[in-house]
Amino acid sequence: MLILAIESSCDETSAAIVDMSEKSRVILSNIVASQTEIHALYGGVVPEIASRAHIDAISYVTKKAVKDAGVDIKKLDAVAVTCAPGLIGPLLVGVNFAKSLAYTLKLPLIPVNHILAHSAAAYFDYQDLCAPFIAITVSGSHTSIYKVTSFTAFEEIGTSRDDAAGEAFDKVGRVMGLNYPCGAAIDRLASEWKRKGSSQRSISDEALKFPSPAIKDSSLDFSFSGLKTAVINHIHNLRQRLKLDKNTPLPENECQYIASAFTDAVCAGIAGKLDIAIKKTGINSILLAGGVAANSHLREAVKNTAESHGGNFYVPSLSLCGDNAAMVGAQAYYEYMAGKTAGNELNAYASEESAYLAGVI
Ligand code: KG4
Ligand code: ZN
Repeated sequence: MLILAIESSCDETSAAIVDMSEKSRVILSNIVASQTEIHALYGGVVPEIASRAHIDAISYVTKKAVKDAGVDIKKLDAVAVTCAPGLIGPLLVGVNFAKSLAYTLKLPLIPVNHILAHSAAAYFDYQDLCAPFIAITVSGSHTSIYKVTSFTAFEEIGTSRDDAAGEAFDKVGRVMGLNYPCGAAIDRLASEWKRKGSSQRSISDEALKFPSPAIKDSSLDFSFSGLKTAVINHIHNLRQRLKLDKNTPLPENECQYIASAFTDAVCAGIAGKLDIAIKKTGINSILLAGGVAANSHLREAVKNTAESHGGNFYVPSLSLCGDNAAMVGAQAYYEYMAGKTAGNELNAYASEESAYLAGVI
């Protein structure tokens, strides 16, 4: 089944063509136009600017996706689009564009939940992957654990009660003086610190240990806001102690130490809750997905957790961890097979709850 998929839920405009069947999952093209350089100027995504940038890019990325796939547009079988959750302006651009395409090409329109699509990014790399598994989706707006019993049945069994993991990476990075989005830079800084080994000392020379983001109860929930605030307070205190004026960056060595301690807290917190999830559900295979799944330390920690229970570990290749339309196309195939299509009345929804109440996802 040839699916043209569109993704525009945040700050990436993407179009892809995927060829999906019961036996194989193939990406024929996957074009991503990122807006991060624009939003870096403001330290985070500005929804109004994001919507306009999607309008600028969407026709171009779609034409390029069709051209690069080398398929005749008349051979397409369906159009898929992320309709929730995300920023409403950006979502509306993609949904409206996809509706027009489906209408003109007389093709079925498949609405896709962005969070499920993040997991579907891994289906390309593991052709034999099938349910059941536990999915943990860590992105700029979500940190949730799901019990997955089929590609279209995700039961949320744990979630963040406040900030998402990616949000904590981005806010901590901003206070450190890094450019948005900060996750990849914090990943690198933490690796640099760990490479130096235990002989390395920090200026403050204290044993840094930040609070765990795992809620201290038997639930599978997280709270990243306490961790984020503790790291930011530490940075402010350190700057005062070092008498740094506002234009002077923290010494690189300190940034590495803080990034390492922060990353350790994130990884241990997530691995700890996954351990409980495996024991609670009896499912030992884990799929890690979302933008933060690109984090090398988290990939290692989750892999170790799955393997310590004798289970498999699945994660999308690095290029498919962030927002892209190929993952939307993959999820769309399973939605279609489960009988899920939308009419031309399809709308966009900022939250999963509102899309669910509207009967769309
Ligand atoms: O899934 P995504 O592309 O967008 C949303 O749906 O939110 O996730 C973006 C998030 C950002 O917060 C970014 O800083 C984070 O993913 N991220 C990382 C890494 N690469 C991207 N976080 C930690 N380590 C990374 N290597
Ligand atoms: Zn995403």
